[in-house]
Amino acid sequence: MRRPLSLLLLSFSTVVTAFTHPLSRQRSLVRQREKALGRRSASVHTHNTNVGSRSSTRFANPEAASFHVDGTQIPEVDFNAGDSWSGLLPISSDPNETRKLFFWYYPPTANGNENDLIFWTNGGPGCSSLEGFLQENGPISWQFGQARPTPNPYSWTNLGHMLWVEQPVGTGFSQGEPNIHNETELAMQFVGFMQQFLNIFAELKGKKFYLTGESYAGFYVPYIADYIYSNPSLLQLEVQGLWLGSPVLAPDVVSIQVPAVNFVHKNQNVFPFNQSFLATINKIAKGCNYTSYLKNFLTYPPPLAPFPLPGISVESDPGCDVYSLIVEAVLLLNPAFDIFRILDTPPVLWDVLGFPGTFPQIQVAPVYFNRPDVKAAIHAPANVQWTECNLNESVFVAPGDTSSPSSWEVLPRLIARGARTVLVTGLADFVLISEGTRIAIQK
Ligand SMILES: *[C@@H]1O[C@H](CO)[C@@H](O)[C@H](O)[C@H]1NC(C)=O
Ligand SMILES: *[C@@H]1O[C@H](CO)[C@@H](O)[C@H](O)[C@H]1NC(C)=O
Ligand SMILES: *[C@@H]1O[C@H](CO)[C@@H](O)[C@H](O)[C@H]1NC(C)=O
Ligand SMILES: *[C@@H]1O[C@H](CO)[C@@H](O)[C@H](O)[C@H]1NC(C)=O
Ligand SMILES: *[C@@H]1O[C@H](CO)[C@@H](O)[C@H](O)[C@H]1NC(C)=O
Repeated sequence: MRRPLSLLLLSFSTVVTAFTHPLSRQRSLVRQREKALGRRSASVHTHNTNVGSRSSTRFANPEAASFHVDGTQIPEVDFNAGDSWSGLLPISSDPNETRKLFFWYYPPTANGNENDLIFWTNGGPGCSSLEGFLQENGPISWQFGQARPTPNPYSWTNLGHMLWVEQPVGTGFSQGEPNIHNETELAMQFVGFMQQFLNIFAELKGKKFYLTGESYAGFYVPYIADYIYSNPSLLQLEVQGLWLGSPVLAPDVVSIQVPAVNFVHKNQNVFPFNQSFLATINKIAKGCNYTSYLKNFLTYPPPLAPFPLPGISVESDPGCDVYSLIVEAVLLLNPAFDIFRILDTPPVLWDVLGFPGTFPQIQVAPVYFNRPDVKAAIHAPANVQWTECNLNESVFVAPGDTSSPSSWEVLPRLIARGARTVLVTGLADFVLISEGTRIAIQK
């Protein structure tokens, strides 16, 4: 059963974000679209998974044992996924702390680097990093349409120690009332969590630290890295770099609307529209200044930053939401169209994590992380109804994240500081469109 598109787009536009661009004359409200993408496997080529070869006694602190996960006892996983550690830890040392983040930590496989610790977060805001764990870069892979999980030969555990964290508070299994207003507060809570984590897993102190993530992690990751750089005494880790996959770096109008029509022209096989519809969207793109915006700002060398908006709205001016028109029209031609992965055609594959994709589906099997046996195996709280994305806008206090996009100040500062920064954008992604990201980093 499918909800009408209008409802769908509402549910995709739930998060209200207020931010002030230092250059914009007025404060404006932005609805950040739900950006929980992550259908692509961010894969790294290595050859040896060798998952069984780890020691369960890596950590001297006796408290570590209560987080140990036996890799032969993970429900539905019919191979030895190796020893790992997971559970909840508070965001501060306050004994009465009620806010806790859920993590799943894996040591490196035999070929991985013992000196590297890689933190991964999904986006949203409010989407669980266990999505990344099970469908992107973890040792166990359970993709759309797969009947059972299989080992992931491209697991990032082949690179180093991996730490998936469900953050901020309000995401996944994490506990407590969200109370943050911006990315600085988010970074403080994450660092507080990391301090508790390193107290227990003290053997990980001093590692080279990489911060990685996708989508709304384009806000999270640069702000967290910036906070750690600015407060070097807080964590006994050495920040080395950032990796961002299809990150949110710009206002929606730049990420989504400006490049949408050109994206249709570049992918005509996927959007086989008739001439009259093509003429309609071309006219909107021209009238709303999207066409000229692309021409003026997607050139190299670029004009001097800062770039203006194409109109007055950071989202879309009245009559200029050409993106929604395109999605409505393409769903008539391909009912399985997936904004996160445009080459999909019917049948729509089921998802063990229950991610809605372009439209909600009936869940044909229990959501994996919502199963009592799975929760028990990974020390997750039994009373939490786990959902992949918390779409209730609750991970930031209303009206939402007040921080500016990281591309305005934080990311340039990090790059100037020498943090190795890798940005990857997906060409099959019709949510955070590659050309929009390229405009965002033209500075
Ligand atoms: C924790 O809560 C208890 C009971 O409310 C209180 O007596 C104690 O002082 C609190 N401890 C701290 C460190 O706030
Ligand atoms: C983040 O929010 C807190 C609480 O509202 C505020 O004190 C702080 O100045 C904000 N930080 C930034 C960088 O906006
Ligand atoms: C397009 O740009 C022109 C000139 O920069 C401006 O006058 C006009 O208002 C813009 N139109 C829209 C729809 O934003
Ligand atoms: C062209 O496509 C649009 C959008 O799908 C549709 O509404 C319209 O009926 C089509 N026109 C013709 C002549 O097929
Ligand atoms: C979202 O809000 C609804 C209504 O308040 C509630 O029933 C539901 O449990 C909430 N979902 C999550 C994931 O918090």
